[in-house]
Amino acid sequence: MALNRRALLSGLAAGFALPAFRVDTLQRVAAAQRAAGSRPPAELAGDEAYWSEIARAFDADRTLVNLNNGGCSPAPSHVLEAMIRDLRFSNEMPVYHMWTVLEPRIESVRRDLAAEFGCDPEEMAITRNASEAMETLTLGIDLKAGDEVVITNQNYGRMITTWEQRGRRDGIVVKQISFPVPPPSSADVVERFRRALTPRTRVIEVTHITNLTGQILPVRDIVRMARERGIEVFVDGAHAFAHFPFKRDDLECDYYGTSLHKWLFAPIGTGFLYVRKEKQKKIWPLMAAPATMDGDIRKYEEIGTHPAANHNAIAGALAFHHGIGGARKAARLRLLRDRWAKRLLAADPRVKVLTPLNDTDSCGIGLIHVEGVDTTKLQAYLWDKHRIMTTPIVHAEFNGLRVTPNVYTTLPEIDVFADKMEEILRKGLPA
Ligand SMILES: Cc1ncc(COP(=O)(O)O)c(C=O)c1O
Repeated sequence: MALNRRALLSGLAAGFALPAFRVDTLQRVAAAQRAAGSRPPAELAGDEAYWSEIARAFDADRTLVNLNNGGCSPAPSHVLEAMIRDLRFSNEMPVYHMWTVLEPRIESVRRDLAAEFGCDPEEMAITRNASEAMETLTLGIDLKAGDEVVITNQNYGRMITTWEQRGRRDGIVVKQISFPVPPPSSADVVERFRRALTPRTRVIEVTHITNLTGQILPVRDIVRMARERGIEVFVDGAHAFAHFPFKRDDLECDYYGTSLHKWLFAPIGTGFLYVRKEKQKKIWPLMAAPATMDGDIRKYEEIGTHPAANHNAIAGALAFHHGIGGARKAARLRLLRDRWAKRLLAADPRVKVLTPLNDTDSCGIGLIHVEGVDTTKLQAYLWDKHRIMTTPIVHAEFNGLRVTPNVYTTLPEIDVFADKMEEILRKGLPA
C-alpha cells in the first residue's frame, strides 16, 4: 500500500499511537510521494530523486557505508525521537506516565501491526524481538520425550540452540535437514522436509527468509503439507516482515515471529508474535500469566516492567513504511541487490552469488562467495580499511559475505563496495 500525504496524515489523525513526527520527516515523505506520482514500483526503484528524499528521513553517517542493515537497522529520525520523547516523559513519573498514559497505547500498535500482517489484533502479541517470539513457541508447546521436531541447518543459530536445549531437557528429538544454496526449486525444499517427517513429528520450524543467503522459503507449501499430518509449523520471519510484501493468508500459517528492528526500521528491542486464535491455549507464555489469560494473546506480553516508549514508537515506523509502500521498498532493495551482485558476477568467474537474483525467491539480502578469498578476512578488511560494514557468514556447508542495504543506501555507496571488491579480485587481500 502506498499512502499519499493525505492518507498518511489521516492515518495519524485516526490514532496511530502518535509519536511527534518531526515536521521535516513528514515533508520528506510527502515530497518523495509527489516525486513518485503513480509510477509502478519497478519504475520508481531507480528514481534517485524519490529515494534521496526517503534517505533524508534517516540521520545516516555518510562516512560509513552500512551494508549490514539486516542485523539491525537504524530507525528514521522521527521514530527515534518519538521513543526518546516518550522515555523522557516516562522518566518524569514512571508509575503514571509510563504505566497509565503510555502503556495502554500498545493497543493501537497491536491494531496497526495486525492490519499490516493481516490477522486479528487478538492474535498479535508485541515482543522485544524475534528471539522472544520464537522461543515463546519453542519452549511453550507441550512435547514429551521421543517427540520429533524438524528444522533445517540454516535456521537461525539461537533458534537451533533453543531446540537443542529443549532436547537435552525434555528428551525430544531435533532433526536438522540440509538444502543447497540456492535450492534447485521450492518443491525440492518441501520434499526435503517431507522426507524427514515420521509419525512422531510434532513440529516443523521454518525460516521465512534465511538470514544466511536471503533465500525466501516456500512457507505456504510447507504449512499445507504439515497441516494434513497434524504437524504444527512455527515460522521464523525475523527478516521477512516489512522487507517484501505478504500477508498472513499468503502463508496460511498459525504461528509467526519477527523482529521489527530489522526491516520495519522500528526502534531496537521490538518484534511480534502471531498465534492463531484457536492455537493460543496450546502455547504457554515464557513468563507466567494467570489461567484467566490462557486464551488471551496478551499473556505473551507478561514480561514485567519494561519501557512503553520502544513499542509505542513502532507506530511511527509503520506509518513511514506505509508512506513508502511495501512493494516500492522491495523493488528498491532488489535493484540495490542486483546492482552489486550482477556487476561482481560479471567481473570474475571466481564470484558466486548464493542468493537467487529474481523477484520471488529473495529481496534485499544477498550472499557473495569469492573462491580463494577468506570471508572473515574480507569482511574485516572492508571495515578496517574502507569503513564498509558487511556480515561474514560462515556455515558448515558454505560461506560468503552477506550484503544488506537499506532504503537510505545510495547508489554511490553500492558502487564503492563493488569497486573495492573488484580491486580485491584483481589484487587479492593485502597480507
Ligand atoms: C532468521 C532469524 N531468526 C531470528 C533472529 C533473531 O532476531 P533478534 O535478535 O532480533 O531476536 C534473527 C536475527 O538476525 C534471524 O536472522
